[in-house]
Amino acid sequence: MNKDFLWGGAIAAHQAEGAFKVGGKGICAADIETAGGNGTARRITNGIIDGEYYPNHEAIDFYHHYKEDIALLAEMGFKCFRTSIAWTRIFPDGDNELPNEAGLNFYDSLFDECLKYGIKPIVTLSHFEMPYNMIKKYGGFRNRKCIDLFVRFAKTVFERFHSKVKYWMTFNEINNQSDYNNAHHLLQDSGILVNDNDNKEELMFQAAHYELVASAKAVKLAHEIDPSMIIGCMIAMVPVYPFSCDPSDMMGQISAEHTRYWYADAHCRGKYPMHITRLWERHGLHIDITEEDKTALKEGCVDFVGLSYYMSMTIKGQALAPEYVWTGNADDLPKNPYLKYSDWGWGIDPLGLRYALNWVYDRYQKPLFIVENGYGAYDKRSKDGSVDDQYRIDYLKAHIKAMCDAVEYEGVDLIGYTMWSPIDIVSASSGEMEKRYGFIYVDKDNNGNGTLERSKKKSFEWYKNVIASNGENL
Ligand code: BG6
Repeated sequence: MNKDFLWGGAIAAHQAEGAFKVGGKGICAADIETAGGNGTARRITNGIIDGEYYPNHEAIDFYHHYKEDIALLAEMGFKCFRTSIAWTRIFPDGDNELPNEAGLNFYDSLFDECLKYGIKPIVTLSHFEMPYNMIKKYGGFRNRKCIDLFVRFAKTVFERFHSKVKYWMTFNEINNQSDYNNAHHLLQDSGILVNDNDNKEELMFQAAHYELVASAKAVKLAHEIDPSMIIGCMIAMVPVYPFSCDPSDMMGQISAEHTRYWYADAHCRGKYPMHITRLWERHGLHIDITEEDKTALKEGCVDFVGLSYYMSMTIKGQALAPEYVWTGNADDLPKNPYLKYSDWGWGIDPLGLRYALNWVYDRYQKPLFIVENGYGAYDKRSKDGSVDDQYRIDYLKAHIKAMCDAVEYEGVDLIGYTMWSPIDIVSASSGEMEKRYGFIYVDKDNNGNGTLERSKKKSFEWYKNVIASNGENL
């Protein structure tokens, strides 16, 4: 790989930091989600209810352990480290007049700690962490007001951290909400609590539009504040395969791609594709889009495309009915007979990563950044404390090989690779601790018991060698 290639790992504030009320932090979207389980959805509660267990409240207490944790990442030779800035540490209610200095100080210290080891911080502005006050008071991104509140948050942290952070992303996996029947996705992506009389389809498109405008305004602002800042979008990249060469499966593939990737089209091209505006007309959806919004979208195209990649999906002939709208729900899909699946049913498809990189690069011709890729598994710790996670090494090895091939053979312009997540953290979808991704084990279980002690798994030394050899020794 290129000598400046950014090897590293990624986490999100709400899944790691804990300390959910420390230093003036306000409550965020993730703070009102209970722990679910493998196959059991997390519940969204009406505020924080006594007696419920909320795994993000403590998470792995990265807030108090970050020095120890960053030292371990440095030992692996990390070149970069992706995290999010918890919006509610900076603006506890989202609409406060002034930012919270204690929150800004925390990220100053965290970024300084990274930079001390030559680790570049990579920051996501909104990673499922909207202030709960904005959710209750304004209805989240169903309300245009949230554009300005987001932009103010972005401005505050751009001004404060521009000399420490060059790479930023606006909204994490903005396209997850294409599955708008799933309340969890609407809450995470848009801070929306659904009411019985909501038209969820319209609501999702409206919220996503406001987010895309907010993102575009943030991109423009960042370039004005410091032209050396590089701002990307972040999409959940799940390539879509037709189940067969039956033309209806092929058409199904295209309509599933339309469902999932129009968000990235808007981020990268500054306007909506025709199939989306046609769909709005056909479904009688009224989306509030002003002339000023259209200008903002055009003026705020992203500099790069950040993407997560965990799996591919396979689709079967649904697009034959022209009015059929796939809501992005992966449970509707057939399994791919060529793939093995993880314990959580995620299809393991390394070559799909090479396919995905080519697909995205061909479409947008912008630099790409793999900002998440990893293997959630049940790890077993031996009596001596060791964890033999060869399956994780196998998964990452195959994916990194596919990534290197896309760069070498197809010339994909790739900035870096931050695996998810170098240290065990709370799962975003299930709230479990025991869906583990890390090179570093954290002693904590699904019920919140454990010492929080950190220890190295077998994969720790392996990744260290990958980085030291710049991807040569896999
Ligand atoms: C992505 C998210 O969806 O995948 C992360 O950006 C998340 O926040 C990751 O943790 C893995 O998913 P999960 O549900 O296994 O934690």
